[in-house]
Amino acid sequence: MEIIVKDTVDEASAIVAEILLRQVEEKPDCALGLPTGATPLGVYARLIEDFRNGCGCYNRAHAFNLDEYLGIPGTDTASYAFYMRENLFRHIDFMQRNIHIPDGSAADASAEATRYETQIAARGGIDLMFLGLGRNAHIGFNEPGSPHDTRTRRVALTASTMEANARYFAPGSRQPTHAITMGIGTILESRRIVVLATGIEKASAVAASLAGPITDAVPGSALARHAHTTIVLDRDAAHELDRILALEIDA
Ligand code: F6R
Repeated sequence: MEIIVKDTVDEASAIVAEILLRQVEEKPDCALGLPTGATPLGVYARLIEDFRNGCGCYNRAHAFNLDEYLGIPGTDTASYAFYMRENLFRHIDFMQRNIHIPDGSAADASAEATRYETQIAARGGIDLMFLGLGRNAHIGFNEPGSPHDTRTRRVALTASTMEANARYFAPGSRQPTHAITMGIGTILESRRIVVLATGIEKASAVAASLAGPITDAVPGSALARHAHTTIVLDRDAAHELDRILALEIDA
């Protein structure tokens, strides 16, 4: 596992944007796994800026989103489909037919999850999976306790995740309690994984994921099971990791 620590969020985002850009240059018809949330916004902004400057061509690439809320349609401004359209897809040249996001309004969530897995397999799997990390160390919406061999499925969100994401819902609107997420097993089958975590509120999740035991209680610890993972952090997110590694070196 490669760990890169940069001084600022901007510098960390630039590294991840560079990795994504290199992936589409090396394999123009690659399959990218993409997250939503606050963390990737700086990366997506850079990819858009690069694209406007003539760098990056996505018209043969496929995008597979990590997850989507259940019970809201893709037109809802709180949906991840809406987020992806606004923050990335409508600014670059992804083909609509190559954009894959679980359908949050599917009547049968299990059938939709199976369909999504089949779609990923039909593309030959994911070449580069970009992930954020939850404050409780979740990856995708695989909450603590998720076995590391799980597949795409319907999951219940924990109270802490709902609280962290409440800011994205208008006051008075109903916040989804469930989602469809790629499983940890699905994620680990990607050829390469790049994780971006920034901010002091991620420091303990980073330390538990990277310096603790591999356990279902810490979804991020599953990353150690993967042969080609790059973790990109800013100083704040690396704060507790630095302390643990310093203790280990001193010991
Ligand atoms: C988003 C996702 C989540 C987020 C995580 C961090 O598609 O699957 O695992 O990556 O909750 O969210 P932010 O970046 O908002 O802190």
